[in-house]
Amino acid sequence: MNPLRLLLLGAPGSGKGTQTSKLLKHFDHVKSVSSGDLLRQQIRLNTDLGHIAAKYIAEGKLLPDSFVTGLVLNELSSRRWLSSKSTWLLDGFPRTVSQAKSLRSELKPHGATLNMVVELDVPESVILERIENRYVHVPSGRVYNLTYNPPKVAGRDDVTGEPLSKRSDDTAEVFGARLANYRETLSPLKAFYSKIGILHKVSGETSDIIFPQLLELVQRELTKN
Ligand code: AP5
Repeated sequence: MNPLRLLLLGAPGSGKGTQTSKLLKHFDHVKSVSSGDLLRQQIRLNTDLGHIAAKYIAEGKLLPDSFVTGLVLNELSSRRWLSSKSTWLLDGFPRTVSQAKSLRSELKPHGATLNMVVELDVPESVILERIENRYVHVPSGRVYNLTYNPPKVAGRDDVTGEPLSKRSDDTAEVFGARLANYRETLSPLKAFYSKIGILHKVSGETSDIIFPQLLELVQRELTKN
């Protein structure tokens, strides 16, 4: 199989984390990193970066590029993923053209590059309802939804049995700010990846519609000559 280095793009609540989990279940050898999960981990560990991240996240603002870029690139490096043979998926990073350029130049000396970017295109009316029903297991990043994929035991993570929580940035006000940021940064980022020729889009309201399209794209990339 070919190496796959995939970025999932999408509005907050569009299902990036959910589609990532589905892909990871489908392909044993694919691993993932989520910038949001890395930041929430820093907050939980009470680090200096965590204190800064908490302020930005609580207001629905993007963190400065240098913070997130440093954090994610460090993670990729410590997992030994900066290699032309590695296969992985990124959720939530790069989110700006500056982050995209940093990732590209970090990968280049290793003969590696992102080879696929997929935008999850889900109507905003659908997203807002999802967010109200979202609960998360912060240590693992596992995501639940009270109607779509509820936990087996109410309020508890399926794997560890630990309590689930609401994200501090899932209020209507903060969510509005996150959506606005997304709309602002999306076009330049899409233009950047479209110019490189690796941008794809899958559209729909449910996983039944979205996941098969995503799977087909990924399978095609993994097996192309
Ligand atoms: P981040 O954690 O990346 O959040 P986000 O992009 O806002 O995306 P979400 O995690 O909210 O949604 P998702 O698309 O993963 O959807 P999910 O699968 O959970 O970032 C948080 C913050 O960190 C940012 O605001 C920013 O401050 C900072 N940050 C992160 N990265 C950064 C960067 N690169 N630069 C600067 N700052 C950065 O699904 C949502 C809900 O819907 C769930 O309940 C799920 O169960 C449900 N659901 C999913 N799919 C379906 C379906 N098909 N049908 C029904 N329900 C569904």
